[in-house]
Amino acid sequence: MGKILEFPKNFLWGTAISAYQSEGGISCDWTKHFDAGLACNHYRLYEKDFDLAKSLNQNAFRFSVEWSRIEPKEGKFDQTEIEFYRNYLKSLKARGFATMVTLHHFTNPIWLAEIGGWTNKKVVFYFTRFAQRMFNEYRDLVDFWVTINEPLVYATFAYTCLRGDLEQKKDNSFQVSFHPRISSLIHPFLIVKNQILAHKEVYKILHKSAGPNFPIRVGIVKNNSFFDAFNPHSSIDRINASFLRYIWNEYFLNKIKHHLDFIGLNYYFHIRVKFPFQTKNQNKVVSDLGWEICSPGIYFVLKELKKYNLPVYITENGLADKNDILRKDFIKDHLCWIWQAIEEGVDVKGYLHWSLMDNFEWDKGIEPRFGLVEVDYKTLERKPRTSAFYYAKICKENALIL
Ligand code: BGC
Repeated sequence: MGKILEFPKNFLWGTAISAYQSEGGISCDWTKHFDAGLACNHYRLYEKDFDLAKSLNQNAFRFSVEWSRIEPKEGKFDQTEIEFYRNYLKSLKARGFATMVTLHHFTNPIWLAEIGGWTNKKVVFYFTRFAQRMFNEYRDLVDFWVTINEPLVYATFAYTCLRGDLEQKKDNSFQVSFHPRISSLIHPFLIVKNQILAHKEVYKILHKSAGPNFPIRVGIVKNNSFFDAFNPHSSIDRINASFLRYIWNEYFLNKIKHHLDFIGLNYYFHIRVKFPFQTKNQNKVVSDLGWEICSPGIYFVLKELKKYNLPVYITENGLADKNDILRKDFIKDHLCWIWQAIEEGVDVKGYLHWSLMDNFEWDKGIEPRFGLVEVDYKTLERKPRTSAFYYAKICKENALIL
């Protein structure tokens, strides 16, 4: 037997999904442009999916509650859907899972989109009211509350998608087309401003409602990337990389750092920066989406988070790999680097792989396969890939055996 890398006691091991990508049957602002249809029909099959996750030795699960189901009309909350998520959470608890609920994972109710979505400052009131209701309903069933998933990704990419600034190419793939629209430049800033206000407001209100003796944890999920200089000897490349690192990785966290009980980290990207703001990665190993795989990056990104002095949960990390060729090594290598960061004092308390099963990958549809479990979209049958069993062993041992 080789080296054993043990993880801290009570480490959380699990997976993450989001409502729109997996549940099916959702009518929200994405549906018009990118209809997820039935997705994995997780809405009907969730108990089976939880059984599967449990059989793979996972002990934590991250998902999102779909705002458009719960509040389909402004101010009108749907009791049936509220009961749905109550049963959903109870099923997770009955199986012993730690639960992490995301309140906003890219989608919005149509009524909100119609008044400008997150560009409208009224969103702060609406989102806080929604969060408060969710807390009142589920306070005993939720271990971690995430306000917003990847705020900057939403403010830039998702918003661009929803404005229809995408062109469909002949092969059915999509290309983002950035038309010179004044509004596109200003809107991301408005969104970020409102996200910051909304996050802080929700943090304060949930803590106030919980009272001093109730153990509530409210955090954010940030997608931080590993930025480094294309040419480490070039000071201009290094300055460029530092600037982007500050804007993308730090700015938002700095604004909300006094309103956080934990940081959720989504790690996917290495970005080598060449002046002026060009990216030139080596791309020696890439996923099915052509994204470079760079496991040491997660170590550097974690080390950057150390200064916040907060518990960190890896809330997403994964790759599109239909034939499951790279996933096992991907998991192993990333966990080695996470272990190293823990050794060096970063308080990482859990790892949630993206994703439990294949799901609807936003503008890219169902082709990219991020699942530990394969989904046959015709029969909706689930079949764990080989890497799912590899990960299950790690979850069971609370250790990586090299
Ligand atoms: C998002 C997920 C998405 C994943 C893979 C993250 O940015 O939170 O919804 O599926 O990346 O692209």
